[in-house]
Amino acid sequence: MSTHLIEPHGGTLTNLVSEPERQTELKAASTDWPSWDLTPRQLCDLELVMNGGFSPLTGFLGRSDYESVCSDMRLKSGLVWPMPITLDVTEELAKGLDSGVKLALRDPEGVMLAVIHVEDVWQPDREAEVDSVFGTTNPEHPGVGYTLSQAHPYYVGGRLEGVQLPIHYDFRALRFTPKRLREEFGRLGWRKVVAFQTRNPMHRAHHELTLRAAKEVKANLLIHPVVGLTKPGDLDHYTRVRCYQAIASNYPANTARLSLLPLAMRMGGPREAVWHAIIRKNYGCTHLIVGRDHAGPGSDSSGKPFYGPYDAQELLQKHEKEIGVAMVPFKMMVYLEDKDTYMPQDEVEEGTRTLSISGTELRERLAGGKDLPEWFTFKAVAQELRKTHPPRERQGFTVFFTGLSGSGKSTIANVLLVKLLEMGGRPVTILDGDLVRKNLSSELGFSKEHRDINIRRIGYVASEITKNGGIAVCAPIAPYDAVRKDVEAMITPFGGYILVHVATPLEVCEKRDRKGMYAKARAGIIKEFTGISDPYEEPENAALTIDTTDKSPEEAAQEIILHLKSLGFIG
Ligand code: PPS
Repeated sequence: MSTHLIEPHGGTLTNLVSEPERQTELKAASTDWPSWDLTPRQLCDLELVMNGGFSPLTGFLGRSDYESVCSDMRLKSGLVWPMPITLDVTEELAKGLDSGVKLALRDPEGVMLAVIHVEDVWQPDREAEVDSVFGTTNPEHPGVGYTLSQAHPYYVGGRLEGVQLPIHYDFRALRFTPKRLREEFGRLGWRKVVAFQTRNPMHRAHHELTLRAAKEVKANLLIHPVVGLTKPGDLDHYTRVRCYQAIASNYPANTARLSLLPLAMRMGGPREAVWHAIIRKNYGCTHLIVGRDHAGPGSDSSGKPFYGPYDAQELLQKHEKEIGVAMVPFKMMVYLEDKDTYMPQDEVEEGTRTLSISGTELRERLAGGKDLPEWFTFKAVAQELRKTHPPRERQGFTVFFTGLSGSGKSTIANVLLVKLLEMGGRPVTILDGDLVRKNLSSELGFSKEHRDINIRRIGYVASEITKNGGIAVCAPIAPYDAVRKDVEAMITPFGGYILVHVATPLEVCEKRDRKGMYAKARAGIIKEFTGISDPYEEPENAALTIDTTDKSPEEAAQEIILHLKSLGFIG
């Protein structure tokens, strides 16, 4: 039925899911095989190797294919393939693997998804890899950072036999495999299909761009968003998919389809564009839209872009004939206010007034509870975004106090708690140092290692509270800067983080000595006591610094409340 569709890359659509009898056989035999729990990226890669999205691959790359892909963007067979698809494992596992060994590959619950027939085990030169694949060794590039510091040091190559595809419970009706999508195209009578790759919500500019692209090449449209792994910090895929569903009705009837792609992006710009074209070919598409800075990671910390805005288009152009997927290049779309229309930037007459909203501005508008104008996005999309981005007044946040024992942290925290409860609207939880040590961390002492574990636990609980729209008030000593920064990084993706340094001088704390602990510390009865026989690293990034020598707890709490108000967390 689907013979008139574009051929998969290399001619055959890979399907590595074994027949039921073989699955039973593999499961039974696997009890004495070594086993590997797949990382989130490996799970995505495995799914696309198994379901044919990565045709002609039939496993994780062996050494010679890997080297050829890195240096020449081709498999040994000569076929274009730009991205090394490798299985990285620990040294410990690698040392026990020889050619011919079968390694069971499992999902996080321990379900065996596939077996790899080990052919090669080697330690790659990862610096050289990232340099050739991403054109840089700068770890600020997410693909580089991952390869150099997150990936395991050994690679295992070999043919895969699949037991079952990774299981997804979300949006099942939208997760078409290449085979199913091809069947769907066949059923609909679609032969020319232009794919739109995205990792962001779609706004009017994207809608206009996709419509123009479909018209230009007289094709049907596949909205094919990535729901595997995208750039760290991107909007979660649940929200994005609801946004895509929300705009579906804005396309003319029966011209567009939505399907989700479980890809782990590398943000590899030009090479990634070539890879995206091959993947879409495997899904039955004849064209791929490639816009400005396709799959690029943006700029490094000095502001220098990793790739030129149209590098991806140039590289794909060189290979499109050979791959057989035509690129539909697009310049950035801008809004012409006077004409109430969108246009590619290069078609706009000089001097015309244009409008656009950058990603950063969009994030700021969402966080500040400001409107998203209708020229920018459809109402239904704005509503979806608003659901996951309530205005600051309704977002969760953490107030994290740090300071010496006796500095006044707990007292201020308790006043703040009461004031916040008095205002109402959000649940408030206090995670006081003493309280946490009684409940969460009762087995811990005061070594650096134990203090860090204690603070991480507090950070974890606070981040969960913040994520769910509550207020966490933490008041541990938290003497070490590095772990405080880790906690900040755990919380900020979900809401506010306000670090308050209660900077009451040691002499004052010691003079107060409410619990008699300083006296004991001086006498050497309590060891490793912060400020006396253990360090306290003063924070340089505190939002507020409060010395309680001459300040009442109520005044201190009021200062914090005013700060929260100025940030918009309190209405
Ligand atoms: S840490 O470093 O953040 O894990 O410490 P924290 O959990 O906040 O400490 C809680 C209380 O433990 C008491 N205590 C000590 N503090 C510092 N050093 C040593 N060695 C020590 N031993 C016991 C101290 O009373 C802390 O409570 P606060 O409320 O800060 O006085």
